[in-house]
Amino acid sequence: MPMKSGRRPPGRGRGGEPARRTVPKRAGAPPRMAAVPRKRWLRLINTGPTVLVSAAHGDRRSVLAVAWAMPASVDPPLVVISVGLERATHPLIRRSREFVISIPTRDQLPLVRIAGTVTGREVDKFAGLGLTPEPARKVGAPRVGECPAHLECRLARTHRCGDHTLFVGEVVGAYALPRLFAERLRVERGAETLHHLGGSEFHLPGPIVRM
Ligand SMILES: Cc1cc2nc3c(=O)[nH]c(=O)nc-3n(C[C@H](O)[C@H](O)[C@H](O)COP(=O)(O)O)c2cc1C
Repeated sequence: MPMKSGRRPPGRGRGGEPARRTVPKRAGAPPRMAAVPRKRWLRLINTGPTVLVSAAHGDRRSVLAVAWAMPASVDPPLVVISVGLERATHPLIRRSREFVISIPTRDQLPLVRIAGTVTGREVDKFAGLGLTPEPARKVGAPRVGECPAHLECRLARTHRCGDHTLFVGEVVGAYALPRLFAERLRVERGAETLHHLGGSEFHLPGPIVRM
């Protein structure tokens, strides 16, 4: 809109463009950012869906909660999970070279708590704790029957990463309940994945926004 006088409307630059806001640089001004404690940096980026990873070898089987999981390649289809060296499931994945990622939703929160707080060193989490082992189609590891989606994986490579191992799995099978997955997870129809904020807190998917 043409301007009648030489006066600019508030918040506008010379050409009518939005004026650039600058942070005044003052010596001794308090920093805008607070330092995030050393052990808490990962909570800034780690809010992807928490998954349940199961594996079996010989007469042993186990399942653990994993918040550190991400897709890594489309072709070939690769997924990465980060598993602590001392987890009972760790040697089962390494030796069997297979694992299943089951994707829990809100209803499975109690199962996430069990898988994520009880170690399979002494107990079989698939026996009597509410986690039902179901045969997978392409791998020997059981999937968690209560979960609405699964990725069956063959171990492609491993990478030692500090006190964890990155297990890179090739996805050889992917399955989901049709009512909860069509092109994408239907978060608005009950596929509310669990996004770990740290400690015992998760957040659920909110409204869908488009970019
Ligand atoms: C929400 C949540 C997320 C977790 N994420 C991971 C993870 O990404 N990697 C990992 O090694 N352990 C993770 N854990 C811890 C393991 O799930 C936990 O130590 C489990 O009891 C190990 O079971 P296991 O000894 O039978 O393998 C997580 C725990 C919770 C509750």
